Amino acid sequence: MLNFEDSFTPAATPMMPPSPLAGLEKGGLRLQPVVPSVTPLATATIAPAPAPASAARSVRADDKRVVNGQADINQLAPFKYPWAWEYFLKANRNHWTPLEINMAQDVHDYHHKLTPAERHVFENVLAYLTTSDILAMRNIGLAVMEKMSAPELQIYQARQVYEEALHTWTYQHCIETLNLDQAEIYNRYRVVPEINGKIQLANRRLERILRSDFDLTNRDNLHEFALSYLFFAAVFEGCWFYNGFSPIFALQRRGLMKGAAEQLQYIMRDEVLHCGFGMRVVRQLLQEEGLELDPDAIAAMWQECEAAETAYASFVLREPILGYSADLHIAQFRHIANRRARQIGLAEPYPGAPNVLPWLDEQVNLRKEKNFFETRVTEYQTGGALAWD
Ligand SMILES: [Fe+2]
Ligand SMILES: [Fe+2]
Repeated sequence: MLNFEDSFTPAATPMMPPSPLAGLEKGGLRLQPVVPSVTPLATATIAPAPAPASAARSVRADDKRVVNGQADINQLAPFKYPWAWEYFLKANRNHWTPLEINMAQDVHDYHHKLTPAERHVFENVLAYLTTSDILAMRNIGLAVMEKMSAPELQIYQARQVYEEALHTWTYQHCIETLNLDQAEIYNRYRVVPEINGKIQLANRRLERILRSDFDLTNRDNLHEFALSYLFFAAVFEGCWFYNGFSPIFALQRRGLMKGAAEQLQYIMRDEVLHCGFGMRVVRQLLQEEGLELDPDAIAAMWQECEAAETAYASFVLREPILGYSADLHIAQFRHIANRRARQIGLAEPYPGAPNVLPWLDEQVNLRKEKNFFETRVTEYQTGGALAWD
């Protein structure tokens, strides 16, 4: 049980006034000593601080910008991007924790029902996800959120950071419940080149914008930021995550690993919102800044990401499992890639790519039907009634 009293335990000794040497560092570096003020209050002159020029008028929505804005970042309304606030409200309707989903049958399935090929698929999808969701959390928290200059954008991204951490918890919960070798699963992305390839690609595309001194007043940097965020939202979240769960959904469709798959369904809902939000931010950024993405850079992005996904699928699905194969996986990657391109007004990279997994979209629209967390049924029904894509 939590002990909320701990931080309020009174000090054993009475509070002493600060020592004049309180500013001296122990390591030998001498800083300015703290000298207690002795100015009597009665004689102190307190002059009112001059009001900053920006306080002279209220924040106007039009003053806000996606990046490089000058409006007060601590004032939420008036909204310039009301859709961002809506994303935040919607995200809060998909709240769950991994502990709420029954994994008992999964333990039996994993150890007694899955074939070696199916276990290989399950473990390697999990190994990829564990690493990539931490990468996602760091990218949004460290590279993207701090560069936004409108609070309504940052607030959704704060929620997104939390959700990425929740996803990591979910994978960890699956690993623990199934009694997998934790160190080995987490290390797998280092030793399997086909998993490592996707992570390294993402690191390469995101590492420069992760720098806090990345200057967005420079037009070339702004273009790079837009392209990196597009990669992250449209490919990393919108394709690699969206389609990345489907090998496990294929098991679920045969009645296997249903608890783990259900966890992934909740994650998939989050990722749909992350992807939609990110692409909307990129669209807004391009419009505000009068920027156009370089078509050659976009083409190179799709080509590189498809190649990495093909290598990954060839490893994870080196043997097809019942109802799923590497060919299906890549065909669906192309179909989803077209959808993401259309969402942001770009040309389809794979014209005519068919929807080979029509059931995949249905996974987002899960509705709890029976015996699931009786006490929270109302909330989940509310979430289940939403349109998610
Ligand atoms: Fe995630
Ligand atoms: Fe995400």
